[in-house]
Amino acid sequence: MNLSGYVADPGGRQHPLGALTSLCTSDGSLSLHSSCFDEAFHSSAGALAEAKAKFVAPAQVRRFRSGTPLRVLDVCVGLGYNSAALMAELPLQGAPDLQWWGLELDPRPLTLALQHQGFSTLWPAHVLQRLEALRDHGHWTDASCGAGGRMLWGDARTQLKQLPKGLGMDLILMDAFSPGRCPQLWSEEFLAALAAQLAQGGRLLTYSRAAAVRASLRRAGLELRSLLPAPGQRQEWSSGTLAERQAATSPLAKHGPGWQSLSLMEEEHLNTRAAIAYRDPTGQDTALLIHQRRQAEQQACHWESTSSWQRRWAPFTRPQAGT
Ligand SMILES: C[S@@+](CC[C@H](N)C(=O)[O-])C[C@H]1O[C@@H](n2cnc3c(N)ncnc32)[C@H](O)[C@@H]1O
Repeated sequence: MNLSGYVADPGGRQHPLGALTSLCTSDGSLSLHSSCFDEAFHSSAGALAEAKAKFVAPAQVRRFRSGTPLRVLDVCVGLGYNSAALMAELPLQGAPDLQWWGLELDPRPLTLALQHQGFSTLWPAHVLQRLEALRDHGHWTDASCGAGGRMLWGDARTQLKQLPKGLGMDLILMDAFSPGRCPQLWSEEFLAALAAQLAQGGRLLTYSRAAAVRASLRRAGLELRSLLPAPGQRQEWSSGTLAERQAATSPLAKHGPGWQSLSLMEEEHLNTRAAIAYRDPTGQDTALLIHQRRQAEQQACHWESTSSWQRRWAPFTRPQAGT
């Protein structure tokens, strides 16, 4: 069945995401488009492929041993691909004790995904049961091993404050809509609050390579690496960011599965106007206000323009490098 363009929830106009339209991505996996954000949930190359390449591979979950906790925060759970793919990667026997939290504004994407036959067949039974429990009850527990998960529905900016301080997340999967569409979740303040939740050696993973995002993560004390496009993906200069709260005893390797140090070009990107942060001091501002505040700061600053940086680094840069 070709789902492209099918309006999955035509009555959704009163929701913050508006109407949701189903899309079939190039690897055959389901995605959605939100009319209010006017953006798809995943890259057209493949929702499942993106989850595996940008979140699961650089997470290296096999590092976590049986009987030890693995604490994961999924920011913007959506259809649940990133967490489902991560759970499917853990061994059935001898897995760490997964302690999972999810932040998500709208329950419809997960509900729509679980109604879709192709989506459900992607996952092992125990992963599917967890997704169904999150949809139906907002939590899941696995009494046999002490694993469990809880969904915090609502605006991630307020729901993040409901999490106990100092949980020490090993992984944060950050998958908000793009900074252009949803600057609220890429602000200096929100990213700093996420960084504060990371354990020593904990990693935040995101598809974003935007200079503003990277500069905020660095100011939050995290060590940055650039995610490389996976084989078969469009060969761009980066496909995202790994940001780690370094443990003094085991510094993050310069190269790893799907990542490398930031190139000189990427470092210089962080000195351009594109690196001016999105600011949301009260955690309640609208996207429009956050953009207006940033534009005023960009106009007043004397940093190199992003277009001049793009010209210097042509042909490596592309127009979508971020402004
Ligand atoms: C790019 S999609 C996430 C895709 C998802 N990770 C997946 O694998 O399907 C962005 C998600 O952010 C959610 N969202 C938008 N604004 C939000 C907010 N202020 N707080 C929490 N979630 C938000 C949307 O409902 C949407 O599900």
